[in-house]
Amino acid sequence: MMKSKIMAFRIKPVLLVLCVIASLAPSFAQKPTPHTSFKPGGEWLDTDGKHIDCHGGNIIYVDSLKTYYWYGEHRGQPRGASCYSSKDLYNWKNEGVVLDKGEIEIFERPKVVYDAAKQQYVMWFHYDGNRYTVAELGVATSDKPTGPFVVQHHERPNGHESRDIGMYLEPDTKKAYIGYAADHTNRTIRMVELSDDYLSTTTNDVDIEAHCEGPGILKKNGTYYLLTSGCSGWTPNPATYYTAKNILGPYTKQGNPFVGDAGNNSFNSQPCYIFKIPGYKDAYLYMGDRWNGGGRPDSQYVFLPITITEDGKMELHWYKEWDLSMFTPVKK
Ligand code: DGJ
Repeated sequence: MMKSKIMAFRIKPVLLVLCVIASLAPSFAQKPTPHTSFKPGGEWLDTDGKHIDCHGGNIIYVDSLKTYYWYGEHRGQPRGASCYSSKDLYNWKNEGVVLDKGEIEIFERPKVVYDAAKQQYVMWFHYDGNRYTVAELGVATSDKPTGPFVVQHHERPNGHESRDIGMYLEPDTKKAYIGYAADHTNRTIRMVELSDDYLSTTTNDVDIEAHCEGPGILKKNGTYYLLTSGCSGWTPNPATYYTAKNILGPYTKQGNPFVGDAGNNSFNSQPCYIFKIPGYKDAYLYMGDRWNGGGRPDSQYVFLPITITEDGKMELHWYKEWDLSMFTPVKK
């Protein structure tokens, strides 16, 4: 009897040490090795070692904070908009759900722009009912990049249906535009100019006769390039790009910019945004979602460089892995 008591006394500190080691082990194990490249379609963990849940969104760079912010649909619980921050575009820290969609039935494709005059972050998004028939734009604001964002209003821009959205910010004038999949269940894309404070749509709103979802916009050498997907739900399809000399058109249809056989399903992705990376010459980042047939939280991302060729064609080539050394840094 006496002996077993002594044994128990001796075992306890050993157990305690083992418990401490066991409780620390997962946190050591989960810390991922920092990323030094993009791996399109591959596993992409945040700085906590968790899958990045940030779909259909956009990236902004906040110069004063020397930080990139990536916004997107948080498709896990709670549903809404997630935000991640990064210093290098490869490694992302989860800043949490910055807009909880609450009663909104469908919340998709958030796009954020910063209004320097009001020092306010403005988020536009696809606001809908569960059968995609409400088809509106929603707008929310926050005084911090990491939220919380508060919904201000939702509307059909100039009476038009609006579903998938893209955004373009003109660097010189700071005018912002939303490209939106519109009317008769996305038969066309329209482009609408926002007010100077980005809080409402103006009547500069045109049908650019582009088919039909996932719009992303870039400008090079005075030409606007509008990249769109076809309409096939969550299934990838061939993309099409259009060019124009004016953001509001007229646009000319060009073709599929994704090169090669796998380009016929946009490298198994759907466009959501084109981010012009600051500090590099002509560094256009294609942001695409690999939905895997459904908008699940674990859907992947296809990030690739976009090339505008000497003769003005848009091209996307497949890279299994790539990094920013592909671009030429701009001297400050
Ligand atoms: C395709 C759109 O691009 C997505 O954002 C989403 O709305 C799905 N359709 C729903 O089927």
